[in-house]
Amino acid sequence: MTDTAIDRPSSTDSGAARLTRRMARGAAFLGSEVAIMAGAMSWVSERNLVAAMSNAGGFGVIACGAMTTDLLDAEIAATKALTDKPFGVNLITMHPDLMALIAVCAKHRVGHVVLAGGLPPKGSLEAIKAPREDGSRAKVICFAPTLALAKKLIRSGVDALVIEGMEAGGHIGPVSTSVLAQEMLPEIAEAVPVFVAGGIGRGQAIAGYLDMGAAGVQLGTRFVCANESIAHPKFKQAFIRASARDAVASVQIDPRLPVIPVRALKNAGGELFTAKQREVAQSLDEGAVAMAEAQLAIEHYWAGALRRAVIDGDVEHGSVMAGQSVGMVTKEEPITDIIATLLDEAAEALAARAA
Ligand SMILES: Cc1cc2nc3c(=O)[nH]c(=O)nc-3n(C[C@H](O)[C@H](O)[C@H](O)COP(=O)(O)O)c2cc1C
Repeated sequence: MTDTAIDRPSSTDSGAARLTRRMARGAAFLGSEVAIMAGAMSWVSERNLVAAMSNAGGFGVIACGAMTTDLLDAEIAATKALTDKPFGVNLITMHPDLMALIAVCAKHRVGHVVLAGGLPPKGSLEAIKAPREDGSRAKVICFAPTLALAKKLIRSGVDALVIEGMEAGGHIGPVSTSVLAQEMLPEIAEAVPVFVAGGIGRGQAIAGYLDMGAAGVQLGTRFVCANESIAHPKFKQAFIRASARDAVASVQIDPRLPVIPVRALKNAGGELFTAKQREVAQSLDEGAVAMAEAQLAIEHYWAGALRRAVIDGDVEHGSVMAGQSVGMVTKEEPITDIIATLLDEAAEALAARAA
């Protein structure tokens, strides 16, 4: 292994050993050294961050977002050139070419496919899990928004679940991570590995969720300012300056147009989103678009606004998606350092509990 955190001598050896045991199931499932996933972040989670995360012993996930099949094909190939460690691909269920994107993942023997953005459409789970020429099968990870849906997903054959609270950056549900974890872990953590996401900024929280039965965790916000992240320097600066209360959820302005809330840093872009919702709601009223199309228009808006901030550095008018843990992001640092800090904090917390 390269120079990663888990090799480092620790003053909290009993904690480190406990942490390794607590993470064993999640790490075995992912094929990584530690059960920490860097959640897919559109425009941010590309070859560099994903490969760096997996090389550091964690688990990187490519954000396919609105990519075409050719772009995803190239991104997976480029990531494989940077790491020989396992990584995953996150696909959005409402992508019009979902099945073709699944085929691209199969072509590259991607080991883990994460389905985000809604329940898996008919046939998608079977397609991901179908045996490949060499006999291997991909594992499928889904987001479970409620306990009932978690149980349904497990019955449908998903291999692992992510439960993500409203503290997270990006698209969010209405319930906090701590409540989801308390409600869901005792009921589902035996059946499949469950990864907890949303609002995790320090290792102490990781230790807490592992103690509650999680197999591992998924963080997004904490990894945006990694040296290896290609996010624009202004995007990273905005993270470093922000505090928890700057990361706010978007507001739905028209009850007829249900939009999934997005958590991002407060800026002038919020008003642009309000204007976009008005425009789309009006098209809906006029019968110019159907509801599904209207919702897709909103999703396209977010993809464009995020690109504007992440790639172009327009953090005033673009969308600076960030979770409430943003206040704990204080500097740019190598991803190995971020993981080392998280592991040390988690081990310390577990050691203190043992003592
Ligand atoms: C800038 C940004 C972009 C994101 N884009 C996506 C995405 O494209 N697909 C997805 O499933 N989740 C996306 N997420 C959510 C992350 O994968 C992850 O689950 C979340 O950030 C975890 O919560 P945290 O931000 O509190 O750590 C995004 C999050 C951020 C901050």
